[in-house]
Parts: sequence; structure tokens; C-alpha cells
Amino acid sequence: MKNKKIALAVSAGIAAYKAVELLRMLVKEGAEVRVTMSANAGQFVTPLTLEALSGNPVYHQLFNSQNSADMEHIRVAENADLMLVVPATASTLGKMANGLADDPLSSLYLAFKGPVMVAPAMNEGMWKNLAVQENIAKLKARGIEFIDPEEGALACGTTGPGRLANLDTIFARVNGHFEKLQDLQGLRILVTAGPTQEPLDPVRFLSNPSSGKMGYAIADQAKARGAEVTLVSGPTFLDPPKGVHFKPCKTAAEMNSLVQQCFPECDVLVMSAAVGDFTAQKLEKEKIKKHSEGALTLNLVPTKDILMEVSKIKTQQFVVGFAAETQNLVQSALEKLRNKKLDLIVANDISAPGIGFQSDSNQVTFIDSDEKVESLPRMSKIEIANILLDKIASNASGK
Ligand code: CTP
Repeated sequence: MKNKKIALAVSAGIAAYKAVELLRMLVKEGAEVRVTMSANAGQFVTPLTLEALSGNPVYHQLFNSQNSADMEHIRVAENADLMLVVPATASTLGKMANGLADDPLSSLYLAFKGPVMVAPAMNEGMWKNLAVQENIAKLKARGIEFIDPEEGALACGTTGPGRLANLDTIFARVNGHFEKLQDLQGLRILVTAGPTQEPLDPVRFLSNPSSGKMGYAIADQAKARGAEVTLVSGPTFLDPPKGVHFKPCKTAAEMNSLVQQCFPECDVLVMSAAVGDFTAQKLEKEKIKKHSEGALTLNLVPTKDILMEVSKIKTQQFVVGFAAETQNLVQSALEKLRNKKLDLIVANDISAPGIGFQSDSNQVTFIDSDEKVESLPRMSKIEIANILLDKIASNASGK
């Protein structure tokens, strides 16, 4: 916790008074805390209390004549290591989920690029309301971590779920977040992502709908947890995560040569790219003309299987493959695990609607080298990335 920069965001609920105590706990452990308040949070706690306890100015007014001084502390909050929303009311969650920015808290959230943790607190009816639950699902799919409320007596006189999580629980989750951040330090991880493109002529190529989101999430989270990351990527619309060694490519052959080149220098390979299995036997120099009648026959030849090639030079590396299946998920993934000599395979059913390619979420099954099968529920690709990295971290530490 020492020297960690935390942007503590307080919204307008009875539990706001508990944020004061949390602030004290964080500061005591050496964190540098900047507080931001929602429009009405001042009805529950005063900016002065939060300013005195944090030792820093509090961002509590969106429009203020002392603009230049304000801009400075907003910028500091924006560059924090973690944004922590305690308590998060139904209204604040709604604004965050829908991109509204009409108060300091929601504006900071939109501008903030780092990890966000949220501890909701509200009455039971609000918590169970479908609109609130849909907003929570949206935020979870974007990788926001929730510290769920507890059951108990609520300020409105009822009993049920909605009470802010215990402060010790929140504190432990924040602490765990920072500890986890460094658990891949010293590990060199090579990640492949996205589709490949196999050209047919100067204007056409064969490809697939992979967005690269899974591989980019793995590279991004691995970097955040302290690994040295190399990302070999086919063409995507995504920005490379900050701080990773980025190696773009187009064809399966280019991806293969980059992987073979980087593999000996890495400890872990995560092969999440959707590599094309076939390429044109002959690349036409001129555009293939439309025939007035009859079908066009393309002659395709198989590409090299990158993981098969890697299995020939593998020494101590931990190798993770992915399996995109439309049927017999576990059986087909098991065959790939064995044939490609993998340490772990992440299988998903690409025929299931709403998950997999292009989507922000997925439903995957892990199979390890002991052929132990573990199916996860549907979750965001960022959450899946972190579960995969947990497995990589425990393997590296010999657990
Ligand atoms: N893969 C690879 N080289 C290829 C094709 C795939 O390294 N030329 C990798 C993928 O990155 C993935 C794993 O192999 O980690 C499985 O890919 P998948 O497309 O599911 O299966 P294939 O091995 O291509 O077999 P099939 O298409 O017949 O299911």
C-alpha cells in the first residue's frame, strides 16, 4: 500500500461516513489518497473532513472559479494507481455504466484509464432492481472489480443485501490488488493475438473475425502484474497496451517467424491468436477478375502450425494454447493439448451466441497437463485473463 496513489471516490449514500474511516486506514498504511465526491456526497460528509484526513485537496465541484488549482489535483487523481468507489450508489453506478459525466465523480471515472474497484451500498430493492443489475453486469464486462455488499440491517430499516462490505474486506481487497500487481515480476511472457490475413491478390485476403480482445487483455493484465510482455499481433483495431514490446504482423508465416524468434527468450507463451490454417498456394500479382459465369476455385495449402513448431524447440517454457471449437469442446481441446504438447489449453465454444469472437466476454474451459477440466461461467475477457495469469503465476512459483 505504501506510496500507492489511490483516487477514492465517494458517492451520496449513508455509507459515505464509512469512506471517512476507510480513508484513514489507507493513509495510515502509507497510501497517497485523493478524494473525489459525487454531486450530493457533501450531504453526508463534508469535503473539509476528507481534505483534512487525506492531506490533499478534494475534488467536489465540477465548476469552480479556482480552475487552475483544481485542474492540477484532477490530473493527479486521473494518474492514480487505482480508482476506488466507496460507497457506490445506484445513481453513480448508472452514470458509470452509461458514460454520463455531470459531477466530479462521474467525470473522473470517464477520464480515468487505470483499474477501478467499486463497493456498492444501497437499499435492498434498489440492489435487486434489474436496471441496477444490468448496469453492474455492464461494468463487470468492462473489467471493473466489485466488492459486493453484504446482507444485514440497512439504513432504511429493512434487512437484506445492500449494506456496504465490511471495511476490513474492502481494505484487504485493495491490498490484494496491489500485491497481485507484482506477482508476475521477472517473468517474460510472449502473447499472440488477433487474426491473421492470408492474401489472395492485391485487394483480397482470407481471415477470420477475431478481434484480438482476449490476447490484448492478457498482455495488458500481465504487464500490469509486473511481467515483461511481448505481444505479437495480427491486424486488429485495438491500441497496443502501454509498456509491452509490440510486434505487428499480417500472415500466419510472419506470425510464425516472430514467435520462433521470441520464444527461446521467454518463460511463457500464450497463443491466443486465431491463426489462419490455410493460405493461397499462389499469390496473384493482379486483381482476380470476376468471371462472367462459373465459380472461382482457390487452391489453398496449409500454413505451418505455430504451436507444433514451438513444441519442437520447447525447453522449460510454460505453453498455453487456445481451442476454438464448434462441437465436442472438451474432446477436441484435449487432442490439441496432447498433440501440441501444451501445459494448458483454454477452450471455448465459438458457436455459442454472444460470446467469443468480437465480444467483451467469453465462457471458457481450462484443461491442464494432468487433463483436469475446469469450466468457468461467462465472464469478461479481462477476468478470464486474470484467472489464466493466476495459473501462470502459481506454476512459476511452483505451487
Ligand atoms: N494455432 C497455431 N498455428 C496454426 C493454427 C492454430 O499455433 N496454424 C494455435 C492457435 O493459436 C491455438 C491453437 O493452435 O492456440 C488451436 O487453434 P484452433 O484454431 O482451435 O485449432 P487448430 O489447431 O487450427 O485445429 P482445427 O482448426 O482443426 O480445430
